[in-house]
Amino acid sequence: MSITFRINGNSVTVDVPPEMPLLWVLRDTLDLKGTKFGCGIAQCGACTVHVDEQPTRSCQLPASAAEGRDILTIEGLSEDATHPLQQAWLELDVPQCGYCQAGQIMSAAGLLARNPAPTDDDIDSAMDGNLCRCATYLRIREAIHRAAEVRAIDAVRDGDEGDPPAGESEPLTDPLKEEV
Ligand code: FES
Ligand code: FES
Repeated sequence: MSITFRINGNSVTVDVPPEMPLLWVLRDTLDLKGTKFGCGIAQCGACTVHVDEQPTRSCQLPASAAEGRDILTIEGLSEDATHPLQQAWLELDVPQCGYCQAGQIMSAAGLLARNPAPTDDDIDSAMDGNLCRCATYLRIREAIHRAAEVRAIDAVRDGDEGDPPAGESEPLTDPLKEEV
């Protein structure tokens, strides 16, 4: 069956059995190996990706259900690991074995998209289905708080440095006259 969807911003068409789990399509057909297989029965969260911006277990989503949808994987979260969550994960040295972490970050990204300032309870509730055999839960929670802070600071800064009010345009500069 021919299935067309968007993956990390790009349109792709794959020819796979309609019942094949999306996780298989991502890893084996599209060679996107960041998303991991854990349990295969929607119980561990290792395979979490976003489908139309919703964290979704790709091990239980048939490929046919991806038709026309927007899929985001850990590879598409940022081009260079500069997403605030990825930076917080690095800063706080969250991973241990690392196996669950792509799914953890994708679930956390879904949480921050709908709740920019989550409490501990919000985080525990949203991340409940993402298991970590290395028990990195406390660092994950701390990193989500850290990413939320960074996003809030960025939002304030972007607001301060946003477009000037109408009628107060910035003076034009000639880049050729800038000192080098
Ligand atoms: S592999 Fe999909 S939830 Fe475990
Ligand atoms: S870091 Fe090892 S399973 Fe989570």
